Amino acid sequence: MKANELRKMYVEFFEKRGHKEINSASLLPDNDPSVLFTTAGMHPLVPYLLGEKHPQGKRLVDIQKCVRTCDIDEVGDDTHLTFFEMLGNWSLGDYFKEESITMSYLFLTEYLNIPVERLAVTVFEGNSLVPRDTESAEIWIRNGLKKEQIYFYGRDENWWGPAGKTGPCGPDTEIFYDMGKEKCGENCGPACSCGKYVEIWNNVFMEYNKNEDGTYSELLQKNVDTGMGLERVLTIFNGYKNVYETELFQPIIEKIESLTGVNYTEENKNTFRIISDHMRASTFILGDPKGVTPSNSEQGYILRRLIRRTIRLVKKLGVNSNIICSIAEVIIENYGEIYSELVKNKSFVLEQLEKEYLLFSKTLDSGLKMAERYFSKLEEGNSLSGDLAFKLYDTFGFPIEFTVELASERKINVDIPVFEEKFREHQEKSRKGAAEKFKGGLADNSERTTKLHTATHLLNAALRKVLGNTVYQRGSNINSERLRFDFSFDRKLTKDELEQVEKIVNEAIEKGIDVMCTEETLEEAKAEEAIGVFESKYGEIVKVYAIPGYSKEICGGPHASNTEELKSFKILKEESSSSGVRRIKATIG
Ligand code: ALA
Repeated sequence: MKANELRKMYVEFFEKRGHKEINSASLLPDNDPSVLFTTAGMHPLVPYLLGEKHPQGKRLVDIQKCVRTCDIDEVGDDTHLTFFEMLGNWSLGDYFKEESITMSYLFLTEYLNIPVERLAVTVFEGNSLVPRDTESAEIWIRNGLKKEQIYFYGRDENWWGPAGKTGPCGPDTEIFYDMGKEKCGENCGPACSCGKYVEIWNNVFMEYNKNEDGTYSELLQKNVDTGMGLERVLTIFNGYKNVYETELFQPIIEKIESLTGVNYTEENKNTFRIISDHMRASTFILGDPKGVTPSNSEQGYILRRLIRRTIRLVKKLGVNSNIICSIAEVIIENYGEIYSELVKNKSFVLEQLEKEYLLFSKTLDSGLKMAERYFSKLEEGNSLSGDLAFKLYDTFGFPIEFTVELASERKINVDIPVFEEKFREHQEKSRKGAAEKFKGGLADNSERTTKLHTATHLLNAALRKVLGNTVYQRGSNINSERLRFDFSFDRKLTKDELEQVEKIVNEAIEKGIDVMCTEETLEEAKAEEAIGVFESKYGEIVKVYAIPGYSKEICGGPHASNTEELKSFKILKEESSSSGVRRIKATIG
């Protein structure tokens, strides 16, 4: 079976059971600063999981592109990826455990023909907040699983979410495929990482919201959130041993072989696999409708890491020229039909890869010179200090393995424990910084973030009024203190323009206008010149939030009910975000 057949079969299966298909959202979440990337299909649905009404109803299905960096060290094995497609279905306060588990079972055994005995499932064992999930276990048994195929685990294994610091979460039941290997020991089970069990699907029973203060409150409705890895299921269905054997990766591997003149073998498989995975993720991040560029912070930094690691590995295969653009071209060709944004943004993707390649080639060379200087002061058998190894990492972006390899050519060792200590301190610092930065957000649905969201709509409208209709939103991020709004415009705003924008927003606040929400087809919304990202499908019902006289936007909400709740609006800063994109930070109240 090919990926396209699986995508189609999955969507149709759930459509037949009353689900409406929604489009994959951007990889870069809007309004939610609690995560860097869309890591699961539930992410764009947070407001609806918290109780907002979804215009498509209570049963949804989609295929969501996801990026997860938590698995980056596992990439190169048979199943872990940084970019993947998640097949997902949702019940927003509609069906619950019985129907969800039964549908998953049916799809796996009757549509994908997976023999029941190859399945293993895990179920939540319970804690002080949520009781043991005997109900799910009983449903699995009623469907035909044996007791021995059901494993009870605690919070580490069978609790999902929130995706960021706060948000919807709950106990889950995870479905694994038994690859048929021997158990690695007496305690081997689905939680074991020996490779016998591969997780394919996760059904989360989302009943809780984790709040800012760490407490949990019950959600207004009981939801089901499921996610199944497309690449993994394709691997299993076709009887492959790893995801790289699927048609999603084969052309990439072949292209790397032809560009480098090196064959993909057991010895170098990790290098080939990491290059393929990282280039796929980088191409999708750059090619996203809200594509970011490589930088030293947030999403841009992750992108930079992925690209630079690739450049290093290509060099390891003995190639010193830029082949990453040609690899990206194959990826765009493979996926272009389904993800048209890749084709649309092809020149941007290739330009950025070329730019990053040139930039890193420079750092790479000066880093090599610096390393040479360090080594020249040492004799064979000596160790390069952990401090200097860290300097090569921190200043020139040299991964420790790279430094160790260079050193070993001169029979020099590297003080790895001290390097690791430095590295941990550094990570600790950036983690703390990141945690501070990502506090709050729409995911917490607090009154203040909701109001800031309404202020963002007014700001968007005011900018278009003052600067013209070529202005459109490029990104939005809200925390409890401020809103941050990125928009297309190619020069600094004048003081006068900023004052005008502020005045328009404050005027709308003073007028105390009711915020109206209607549900319309996408075509109706477009005809009324509502602004917003038109990613939806033809005929799809969308929500339109209007502040009459000022703004009309396609948006999921939630919003303040009247503009007077915002009290007042103030621009804190206007600056450049990236080429052709300006950024405004502002606050209310
Ligand atoms: N949100 C769930 C997951 O990512 C389905 O596993």
